[in-house]
Amino acid sequence: MKLHSLLFGLLTLALTPAAFAQQPIVIKFSHVVATETPKGKAAEFFKKRAEELTGGKVKVEVYPNSQLYKDKEEMEALQLGAVQMLAPSLAKFGPLGVKEFEVFDLPFIFDSYAELHKVTQGPIGAGILKKLEPKGIVGLAFWDNGFKSFSANTPIKVPADLKGKKMRIQSSKVLEEQMRSLGALPQVMAFSEVYQALQTGVVDGTENPHSNMYTQKMHEVQKHMAVTDHGYLGYAVIVNKKFWDGLPADVRGQLTTAMKESTDYANKIAKEENDGALEGIRKSGKTQVYVPTAEERLAFKKALVPVHKKMESRMGADLIEAIYKETAFDPARL
Ligand code: LMR
Repeated sequence: MKLHSLLFGLLTLALTPAAFAQQPIVIKFSHVVATETPKGKAAEFFKKRAEELTGGKVKVEVYPNSQLYKDKEEMEALQLGAVQMLAPSLAKFGPLGVKEFEVFDLPFIFDSYAELHKVTQGPIGAGILKKLEPKGIVGLAFWDNGFKSFSANTPIKVPADLKGKKMRIQSSKVLEEQMRSLGALPQVMAFSEVYQALQTGVVDGTENPHSNMYTQKMHEVQKHMAVTDHGYLGYAVIVNKKFWDGLPADVRGQLTTAMKESTDYANKIAKEENDGALEGIRKSGKTQVYVPTAEERLAFKKALVPVHKKMESRMGADLIEAIYKETAFDPARL
């Protein structure tokens, strides 16, 4: 009898509204890269810190490698509230209608992480993130990946080596123009499809930071790679605005702290991760890694910097000028 009443008591307790209220708030965080990349690791770090700092009130479920959604679908899923958090690459915001993000795709606009951080971690970056709010999205942070290399099945030393090649790009008009400026044929394709497209010859080559190439094994189906560092690839961490604004204030504060720590972590490991991946690619012996000479790199720069002017009406000449000012870049001084 005693046992019965105890069980009954436990059962009613479990069904009270208070018990329901203690269900954790779930954040589904979907992304398209491997866990062993700067973004993959930073997402795991955020999960850990968010769960710790909220004392378990929040549970973060990370879905890597396009497990849940591919590039285009994940943006839609966030806006619909099917997932709460994403970190798409900056090249993927154009289709959302926030063209300012495309400024990060301009070839050779940043020479180093230090230059880049003046923009992403300063007022210009904050202003760009703010542009997302009318789309029902809150931009929380910029996370680094790194600078891109080109790959193909034939050697790449100078711009003419990419002429006529079908090159996979992310969905960005600036990247499209970049490839056209080299005489290449850009092909927009979801990240999850790139390995197979390279393997079967649907495309001839691509561009990405080494961490992405290595973890997707792209180097196993590409014979040549050139470390051109011709452009940057990084991320904006974004949340569904309705979800974010609806969180209890204390939880939102704890998550903001967890995000700040994760951003420091992401931006600290990104370079090491990419250097390690390049080492791994070299060691694999499957692709020949070429580092262009200063002169060859300058040829790429001369071929690609005119893309800034051509694309300025998309993201605004003022924005480009503001970045030049931060980084002391002068396109006339090449
Ligand atoms: C790509 O599509 O190449 C990248 O944006 C993937 C990523 O998220 O780093």
